[in-house]
Amino acid sequence: MNASLSTAAPWWRPNTGHRLIVRGGRPLVGTYPISGAKNAVLPLMVSALLTPHLVTLRNVPANLDVAVLVALLQRLGCGMHWSASDSGLAVTIAADRVQPRRIDAELVTRMRASVLLFGALLARGGEAALPMPGGDAIGLRGIDFHVTGLRAMGATIELTDGTIRATARDGLRGADILLPQPSVGATENLLLAAVAATGTTTIRNAAREPEIADLATCLIAMGARIAGLGTHVLTIEGGALLGGAVHTVLPDRIEFGTLACAAALTDGELVLPHGRVELLGAAAASFAAAGIDLHDTEDGVVARRAKDGLIGVDLTTAPYPGFATDLQAPMMALLAAAAGTSAITESIFEQRFRHVDELRKMGADIAVRGRTARIRGVGRLHGAAVTCTDVRAAAALVLAGVGAEGETTLDGLDHLDRGYDGMTEKLAACGADIARR
Ligand code: UD1
Repeated sequence: MNASLSTAAPWWRPNTGHRLIVRGGRPLVGTYPISGAKNAVLPLMVSALLTPHLVTLRNVPANLDVAVLVALLQRLGCGMHWSASDSGLAVTIAADRVQPRRIDAELVTRMRASVLLFGALLARGGEAALPMPGGDAIGLRGIDFHVTGLRAMGATIELTDGTIRATARDGLRGADILLPQPSVGATENLLLAAVAATGTTTIRNAAREPEIADLATCLIAMGARIAGLGTHVLTIEGGALLGGAVHTVLPDRIEFGTLACAAALTDGELVLPHGRVELLGAAAASFAAAGIDLHDTEDGVVARRAKDGLIGVDLTTAPYPGFATDLQAPMMALLAAAAGTSAITESIFEQRFRHVDELRKMGADIAVRGRTARIRGVGRLHGAAVTCTDVRAAAALVLAGVGAEGETTLDGLDHLDRGYDGMTEKLAACGADIARR
């Protein structure tokens, strides 16, 4: 599939090496530019389905999830024009001739974020049918909030034989929706649908992740009327005729936080252009307490180890602005090598400790009970053969590898490629001994 993806996304380079070899123990020193956010660009690309006019996105990260969505959108009839400049990759999407029935089922099952197509296609064409979207194996990850919300907006939805079918023959209408949990995907899906619906939609207990405000900002530039950005209540006056827009994708706070951990873990010093400390939410305080020193400079945020070294901390993941679940695995890789003990409680996903077994192979001392992992810092991990089990676990294992003594080999690299733009090359440019074979 990698080859067909590079036809759809010309910048996508299918990787020949299936294994990543990391020889650890060198401090990372240099500049590691932070890309556009994966979790922002996916809904932003889907938003182009709501208008026949051109939507241009700048600062697009070149990762596998984006390549999959590009292929899905092309199959649906979208035109895509790519350009590259010093400020990164840009795409212009033309969705003037969309054929909602031309869904590529195989691609949908590769990525959970494909569920975002549901609201937009339903809004655009009055019908949508998708196989159950795939993605990381990190829990049930139901889509019940999406379904309940769209039903409240007048959609008829059936789930049969693994396919979700929805119709809204008379169009979607505004509704007052209370999310049981602040789900990122459900907030985005309902926001996309509400913009095209008639009347007012209120999404209560909405997720507040910065990527949602980024989506809303682009939709507003297209002509949508949305209030409450960054709060738990989004109010959308639907039905505006949407035009085109030019939008720059928000920097990736997860890539930024991960690389901040890498700088401190290896006792190096990384300049992280486009990194934004304020987007880390509660993770900023946990980082400081654990000995990750961050300060702003003209060239970007500089990350290094604090002079007292790495120290164990306790933390619980939570919806934004709480500690991001996507930074939980990288932080665990760091704490495994810190002084003292730490406790990490995962409150968002019920199966997001699959990296623990892999870190243990590298000498980590971690015990899991229920949703809490207790970590006894061992000073330094050692290299081992490990397998990436999800996107963020993959980043954590790369981090553990660059910080460890000896050689680490990583399998399951599709997970790494899904979420990170050129991580191997960017790390090598900062002195890591890392290569794909
Ligand atoms: C998004 C992010 C992912 C991040 C997660 C939480 C993208 C592309 N992915 O995933 O990187 O880890 O937010 O910050 O942006 N839930 C239900 N029913 C639903 C929807 C969600 O039970 O209909 C549950 C999920 O199982 C999970 C929790 O709600 O336990 C949060 O999920 P959600 O915020 O929806 O995550 P995603 O949007 O899938």
